[in-house]
Amino acid sequence: MSTAEKTFSKGLEGVIAAQTEMSFINGTEGILEYVGIAIGDLASKSSFEETVFLLWNKRLPTKPELEQFTADLRSHYTLCDEMVTQIKSCPIKAEPMHVIRSMISMCAMYDENPNENSVEAARHKSMRILAVAPAIVAAFDRHRRGLEIVKADPSLNFASNFLYMLNGEKPTDAMVRAFDICMITHADHGLNNSTFAARVVISTLSDLYSAMTAAIGSLRGPLHGGANEGVMKMLNKIDSVETAEAHVMGMIKNKERIMGFGHRVYKAKDPRASELMTLAKQLAEDTGNMDLYNKSHAIEKIMEREYASKGIYPNVDFYSATTYHCIGLKLDLFTPMFVLARIAGWAGHVIEQLEDNRLFRPTTDYIGPHNAPYTPIEKR
Ligand SMILES: CC(C)(COP(=O)(O)OP(=O)(O)OC[C@H]1O[C@@H](n2cnc3c(N)ncnc32)[C@H](O)[C@@H]1OP(=O)(O)O)[C@@H](O)C(=O)NCCC(=O)NCCS
Repeated sequence: MSTAEKTFSKGLEGVIAAQTEMSFINGTEGILEYVGIAIGDLASKSSFEETVFLLWNKRLPTKPELEQFTADLRSHYTLCDEMVTQIKSCPIKAEPMHVIRSMISMCAMYDENPNENSVEAARHKSMRILAVAPAIVAAFDRHRRGLEIVKADPSLNFASNFLYMLNGEKPTDAMVRAFDICMITHADHGLNNSTFAARVVISTLSDLYSAMTAAIGSLRGPLHGGANEGVMKMLNKIDSVETAEAHVMGMIKNKERIMGFGHRVYKAKDPRASELMTLAKQLAEDTGNMDLYNKSHAIEKIMEREYASKGIYPNVDFYSATTYHCIGLKLDLFTPMFVLARIAGWAGHVIEQLEDNRLFRPTTDYIGPHNAPYTPIEKR
C-alpha cells in the first residue's frame, strides 16, 4: 500500500482491526448482543457461567454441557499454596489492580507449559485464570485487612464463591444474583482497549498470561475500566441530590470529564447502563442506599440536559459504581470486579486471534523532519 492510500485515524476510531463472533454493538441504537442474544435477555435469564460458555463456544450449552463446564471451572477455584504465599508478600498498601495484574502474570510461573498456544491449551489456561482470579482478589483484600484467607468453596457458583471468599460468610441470594448480573454485563464488549491489548500481545504468539497481564494494565486506566472508581469518588463528593446540580455544572465549567459518561462507540445510552440502573435501584432500596441511587439519577438527568445532543450518555461504569457499593465492595475493588468478568472476553478474543492469527503491526505517519544535519555534540 502506498503512503497516499493509508489513512490515519486518531485513537483508531472507526477502524475495523479484527473480526469476532462474540459481541455485536450498535452504538447508534444502543444495542449489545453476545452471539446474537440481547444483553438484557442474558442479564435477566442467564448465569455468568452460561454466558462464558456462550462466548467461548458461540452457542448456548445444553444442560449436561453447562454442568460439565461449571464443574471444570469449580475444580480450578482454589489457589495453590505458592500463590497464597506470593499474595501475602504483597505490601498491604498495594492497589488491588496492581496485585491482580502481577498475580495473573505470576500464574505463568506455576504453569508447566506457559507458552503453549494451541487453541485447546488457551481454552484450558483461560478456564484456570477465570476460576482463580476471584480467589486472588479476595485473598489480597483479606490479607490487607489482617483476616484469615478463606478457601474457595467448589459447591458455590462463581458469584457466590467470590463473595464468600471476600466476606467469610455465605452471601444472600439477592447479592449473588446482583453480582452475577454485573459479571454478565461486563463479560465482553467488542474491540475495547483492553481486549485490543490482549489481541495485540497474543498476535506475536507470546503467551496467554502476557496477553491477560497487558489487558489488565489497560483496563485500570480512568478512561476505561477505572472509570467506575472515578464515578464513586464523584458521588462521594456530592452531599445530596440538591447539591448535585452545582457540583456537576462546576465540573463541566472546569472542562472536567464526568466519569461514567461517554463512549467511543455508543452515541445512545449504553444498554448495560440501563440494566445496571435497574439493578442499582433495587439494591439501593434493599440496602438503604437510596440517597446514592438518587444522586446518580440526578447526575444522569443533568448530563442528559447538557450532553445528550453530543451523544454523551451513561456508560457501563456509571451505575456499576452504585451497584458495587450496595454489594458492600470497597472502592478500590470496583475495577478488579471488571477484571473478573472481562477475563471471559479477553480469553475469547485471544482464542479467536489464535484461530486465525496475523501479527498486529500498524504504521505511523511520520511528521518529523528529513535530511536533518548531524551536529557534533560540542556544537549543539
Ligand atoms: C470513554 C471516552 C474516553 C470516549 O471518548 P472518545 O470517543 O475518545 O471521545 P473524546 O475523548 O475524543 O471526546 C469527544 C468530546 O466529548 C467530550 N466528552 C467525552 N466524554 C465526556 C465526559 N465523560 N464528560 C465530559 N465531556 C466528555 C470531550 O471533552 C470532547 O469534547 P470536545 O470535542 O469539545 O473536546 C470519553 O467519553 C470519556 O473520557 N468518558 C469518561 C470516562 C469513562 O467513563 N470511561 C469509561 C468508558 S466505558
